[in-house]
Amino acid sequence: MHPRHMIDLDQLTLPQLEEITRMAHAIYKNPGHYRDACHGKIMATLFYEPSTRTQMSFQAAMMRLGGNVIGFDNPAFSSVVKGENLKDTVRVVSNYADLIVLRHPKEGAAKAAMLYSKGPVINAGDGGHLHPTQTLTDLATLSETKGRLNRLTVGLCGDLRYGRTVHSLIKTLSRYGQNRFVLISTPELCVPEYIKDAMNRAGCPFEEVFDLGEAISRLDVLYMTRIQRERFPSNEEYERQKGVYLLTQDKLRLAKNDMRILHPLPRVDEIAPEIDDDPRAVYFEQTEYGMYARMALILFVLDAKNAVAAAAVGDNSPLRCANPNCVTGTEDYLPNLFEKGGRFDVCEYCEHQNDPA
Ligand code: NCD
Repeated sequence: MHPRHMIDLDQLTLPQLEEITRMAHAIYKNPGHYRDACHGKIMATLFYEPSTRTQMSFQAAMMRLGGNVIGFDNPAFSSVVKGENLKDTVRVVSNYADLIVLRHPKEGAAKAAMLYSKGPVINAGDGGHLHPTQTLTDLATLSETKGRLNRLTVGLCGDLRYGRTVHSLIKTLSRYGQNRFVLISTPELCVPEYIKDAMNRAGCPFEEVFDLGEAISRLDVLYMTRIQRERFPSNEEYERQKGVYLLTQDKLRLAKNDMRILHPLPRVDEIAPEIDDDPRAVYFEQTEYGMYARMALILFVLDAKNAVAAAAVGDNSPLRCANPNCVTGTEDYLPNLFEKGGRFDVCEYCEHQNDPA
């Protein structure tokens, strides 16, 4: 079935993911061909968190497809500041726009929005949880610059705990054959359990290490990330973690000649600027591929022939998710949605593993 929303790339089959990546490549090669593809369509970008690339690349993508864009990038200038909840905002905006692109600080917010939208919702980042369209960007970049999405040793370095780009990328690349991960972080910023579970379920080998310099020579891909100050519970904890990783020329000398360095950006201090001119650094090209990937995704979701209503709001368990960052904490009307995962009840919004005991 053609999915109507894009909340998590797990919703797509591998052939569907390939269809989007192929389409992104076709648009990249011949953008003019698609300039009227979304004529008469309106996309709303609702950004409750700061963004440069994701928001602008979505807007540019829709404009290059001949569509129009409405929205806000600062909820302080919308009715949110008057106390409007997410549900009401989404209900209203989905009367105006054919498609909603949502970025929100709470984990599971896109899934929550989907329950109340008439049209497709695309998750442009939900707190420290997922960022599927960054992963489409990363897949397009790897296809173009590395030539394959399988048989890769992928190092991910930095904030693997709160890095939503990391979570979506691992979940997705673990579905392609013979990939392995080297997870480079401090113990405090290692990947959450549900990401380890996803790798284990996929039978995808991974190791957790601290030292970037020690790991780099083994890697086909190095995915650097920023330590995200805004996600830490306190500034003291951020201060303890910041600046631990820095990719320098000295470290890069140990890497393979055909390794590719990706970064979702923004960069703070984790990649020395002199690396930018190294042919292995593709993080600026990555931003361009991201626009084509988003053009392909917009075409994909708006093409939904067999659009179906949002997932049934059944399964209203009495349990409330215990994750303090879950969207159900602030949007108290949301139904409790859980799936059984071993002995845990897994929250369907944020994937937190709740212990029912
Ligand atoms: C990332 C994000 O917002 O999660 N940026 C992006 O979308 N390209 C990474 C980050 O902010 O560090």
